[in-house]
Amino acid sequence: MATKKSKSRKSRRKVLFILSLIAVILCLPASLLLIFTRLQQKPEEISPMENIIEETLSTERKTEVISETEPETQPETLPPGTVTGISLSFYHAFLHVDDVSVMPVVRMSPDDAIDISEIWESSDETVATVDKSGMITPVGAGECQIRVTSASNPDIFADVNVKIYSDDEDLPDPDTISCSGSPRDDIQVIGGITYVQGIMLVNKTYPLPASYNPHGMTSETEEAFSQLCQAASEEANLSLFSHSDFRSYQTQVYLYSDYSSQYGSEAADRFSARAGYSEHQTGMVIDVNWPGDAFNDTPEAIWLEQNCARFGFIIRFPREKEAYTGYKYESWHIRYVGKELAEKIMQSGLCLEEYLNVMSEYP
Ligand code: DAL
Ligand code: ZN
Repeated sequence: MATKKSKSRKSRRKVLFILSLIAVILCLPASLLLIFTRLQQKPEEISPMENIIEETLSTERKTEVISETEPETQPETLPPGTVTGISLSFYHAFLHVDDVSVMPVVRMSPDDAIDISEIWESSDETVATVDKSGMITPVGAGECQIRVTSASNPDIFADVNVKIYSDDEDLPDPDTISCSGSPRDDIQVIGGITYVQGIMLVNKTYPLPASYNPHGMTSETEEAFSQLCQAASEEANLSLFSHSDFRSYQTQVYLYSDYSSQYGSEAADRFSARAGYSEHQTGMVIDVNWPGDAFNDTPEAIWLEQNCARFGFIIRFPREKEAYTGYKYESWHIRYVGKELAEKIMQSGLCLEEYLNVMSEYP
């Protein structure tokens, strides 16, 4: 029995050996053929995944090559504190000959620049002059450039394009005017008033001339506010009314000086505008019901915030936006900007300065 079993095991091993030998003999040429074909293959015949790997590798190789061939001469390093950039609060001014002077706010960069003194010059003093501080005064009809140059780095300068109109000519319409060829083409000073994307802007950077006086709310603002009050009454049984709306330059002189003598100018600057810098002078602003923190979170304040955009108003100094607006939260101060823009701004969660990408800082 045992001999029979060992015989059959031996013959099974023999069969297995022969089969393995046949398999090796058959596979060897096939493997050799595969290796040969792979060597002959063109790059585009490689599978997509392989292609990605190849591209990554060749990009790395290219990057290496580029960095190897970088020019040996590095850009000249400027001494620390040197001015390397200038930006202006506006680059276009359209003025009548008898308009007030205007002055762009200048920002030199970097913030730690040491000598930030400015040199101002006019390309044509028969059109407009400029004084040492950048005050631009119209002289005669025509066009010129007012240039500010860094005194410490003459390569750094910025231009204001000035166009002066004779008294019998109309100034351009802020809604239709288009400028080009300089940064912030969307900011224009027309007759001393700043418009950004056609919107009149008044804040700590962009003042109004003292003479600007619409003698009350603009008709659009008055009409929109009346509709808002009616809706508050009908829809929510709330009573909204104007506590303070248009304020002249002179009224603001009195108000601000009163607040700053009571609280000090630093504290007053957080809730009251200096004369010429108050939006109340535009006639497009209303302080609703009771200006003061006690109005915050009242049903009236909540309704106002949720509904003012339907009537073309925005909450002008929203919560947590003091770094942009320059003012503490004022739940009662609304500004008319028109329905379309008001909806966009209120939905964006941005304040007007963020939305228009402008500053609000006293010069
Ligand atoms: N309360 C706002 C900032 C104003 O005085 O215009
Ligand atoms: Zn106000």
